Order: sequence, then C-alpha cells, then structure tokens
Amino acid sequence: MDITTNELDCDSYVKLDAFTRKTYRDVYPAIDPSRPELSQAGKVIVITGGSRGLGRSSFAASFARANADAIVLLARSSINLAQTEKLIKDINPSTQVSSITLDICDEAKVKDTFDKIKDRFGIPHVLINNAGVLPAQGTITDQNSSQWWETHLNMLSKEVNVRGTYNVTKAFLRMTGPNPANPTTIINVTSAAGHIVAQGMSAYCLTKLAITQFTAFLKNEYPRITSVSLHPGMVLTDMGSSVLWLEPFMRDTAGLSGGTAVWLSTGDKAFLSGRYVAANWDVAELEMRKEEIIRDNLLTVCLRGRFGEMVAR
Ligand SMILES: NC(=O)c1ccc[n+]([C@@H]2O[C@H](COP(=O)([O-])OP(=O)(O)OC[C@H]3O[C@@H](n4cnc5c(N)ncnc54)[C@H](OP(=O)(O)O)[C@@H]3O)[C@@H](O)[C@H]2O)c1
Repeated sequence: MDITTNELDCDSYVKLDAFTRKTYRDVYPAIDPSRPELSQAGKVIVITGGSRGLGRSSFAASFARANADAIVLLARSSINLAQTEKLIKDINPSTQVSSITLDICDEAKVKDTFDKIKDRFGIPHVLINNAGVLPAQGTITDQNSSQWWETHLNMLSKEVNVRGTYNVTKAFLRMTGPNPANPTTIINVTSAAGHIVAQGMSAYCLTKLAITQFTAFLKNEYPRITSVSLHPGMVLTDMGSSVLWLEPFMRDTAGLSGGTAVWLSTGDKAFLSGRYVAANWDVAELEMRKEEIIRDNLLTVCLRGRFGEMVAR
C-alpha cells in the first residue's frame, strides 16, 4: 500500500499501527493524569524540548496535572520556555518549575545543566527525551549529503535527534547510576515513522529508528531503569503541521501522549522496558498481554526472516 496517498481515512495510520484492539486519539480514563493512582507527587521530571509543541502541551501539562513535585524544561528559546512555565503554574501552582536554556547538542552544557538540576531538586526520577527536529524531505538523490545528514533550516537533525538524545540520557544516567534508589523512567519520544518506509522521509525516519533501538540498549545496559520509546501519535504541532500531506491524519490530542507518558512513569512498567509503545494503544490491554509481550519479545525492532535454519547441525 502507498502510505502517502490521500485516499486513506483519517484513522488509517492508527489502524495500521494498532497493536491493541481498542485505540484512542484523546485522553481516556486509564491515562487521565489527574487520577490519584497516576500521581507523580514526590517526583522530579526533566523534559527536553519543553518550550513548545508536545514538550509543552503534552508532557509538561500532563505531569503538572499529575502533581509532579518539579518539572525542569530544557530548550533553546527562553521566550517559549517562559510560556510553558506559565502554563504549568496555571495548571498546578504547587508544581515547581525551572527552565534552562540550552542546545542539547552541547554535551558540556548538558552535563553542567544536570549538575544544576541535582543541586536544586536532587536526582531526577523521569526523563522525557522529547526534543526533536524534522529534517529536509526528499528522496535520497534529491538531497545533497549534508542536507540528508543534518541540515534543515540550520537545525542539525541527526545531531539533535540522535546525539542530543544521547547527551541528555548520558547526563541523566550519571545522576541516577545503574541502581537508582527510586523508580526511574526514561521515555524516548520516537515515531511510528521509525519503522515504516515513507518515501522522501529517510532523513527523519532513520533518526527515529535509531532512538527506538537506543531504548533497547538502555534496557539492556540499565535493566533497573524503565526505558520506553513512545510514539506520541500524530499531533498538529509546528513539526506536525510541516508535512502537508500528513495534515488530514493529525487528529491526536497532545493530552493522549502526555497521559500515556504519566502512565508509563507510574508503578511497575518493566514489562515495557526496551520496547516501543504508541500512545494510541489501550494501556489496559497492554497490561493484560504482559506475558505474551515478554515471552515473544514483542514491540522490539527485528529483521524478519527464518534465521539459523540453514546451518548444518
Ligand atoms: N507532532 C507529531 O505528530 C509527532 C509525531 C511523531 C513523533 N514526534 C516527535 O515528538 C517530539 C516533539 O515533536 P513536536 O511535534 O512537539 O515538535 P516541535 O513542535 O517542532 O517542537 C520541538 C521541540 O524540540 C526543541 N528542540 C529542537 N532542537 C533543540 C535543541 N537543539 N536543543 C534543545 N531543544 C531543541 C524545540 O525547542 P527550541 O526550538 O526552543 O529549542 C521544541 O521545544 C519530536 O521528537 C518529534 O520527532 C512528533
């Protein structure tokens, strides 16, 4: 099927990517961050790309609703960060907020920032690696190698999406260590685009595939930390509205991924560690299928085929 065609209905991508029988495009009771069962009281949350888009309307807003003790916002635009701060204060005046202006590609600044976070709030409990950019689109031969590799409106996509995520995760892990005293969660915001082949989008899709697989490495190397790659659905943010042919499908609310991130940060979600989760999926069904997910190593990146059968025994 040509997945870029305009003849699909607006739920087509959700259906194509549906792992659970029920799917959602807006907050539903099980992930409602205002439910006391999902309370994030006592926790410090760090959100990259907290200045606008999902960082603001999805993750910052939802963790404020879930009564997080403190939310630390990281991004480059101080003006936009101030607006997210205001939103958090309006939602929940008792959540402390701190904004730090930084480019996540700057490893030294990222390290220094986490030292400051620790000094002020202690060791953080949840990291949302959300900052990302959408590189230039075009077929492999349409672009020159530097456009494909990194440059889109002077934003370095592979640097931000992959190296930036690595920098921030490394600085966070330096704080938590491999055996944190408190339950600790890393949510890497990936995309369903990371495991589909959408013509002209290889520059972006490959960064998201890298993030999904990076999450599996985190689980392997830091098994006491729950690391999940989360597809936030399709949301009309600055990025979401920049791919014109996708606009008719952009019907998910920001609250859907925010609520799912809060749910992933609550209780024991180790069965999803190292795996890919789409915000559209029904979390109750994920819980119900816990054994199957672990036994069959589902929701992981793999190469299809029958391997090992040709080897003489
Ligand atoms: N929207 C969707 O439908 C959708 C679907 C699938 C996946 N995603 C993923 O969701 C995440 C958020 O997307 P979005 O739609 O909210 O995008 P967006 O509206 O364009 O926001 C991107 C955020 O990333 C920050 N950022 C970019 N470069 C940065 C850098 N070098 N250092 C620090 N922060 C940086 C931006 O802040 P500053 O400009 O202030 O630095 C901004 O806060 C991305 O990882 C994206 O790939 C989105």
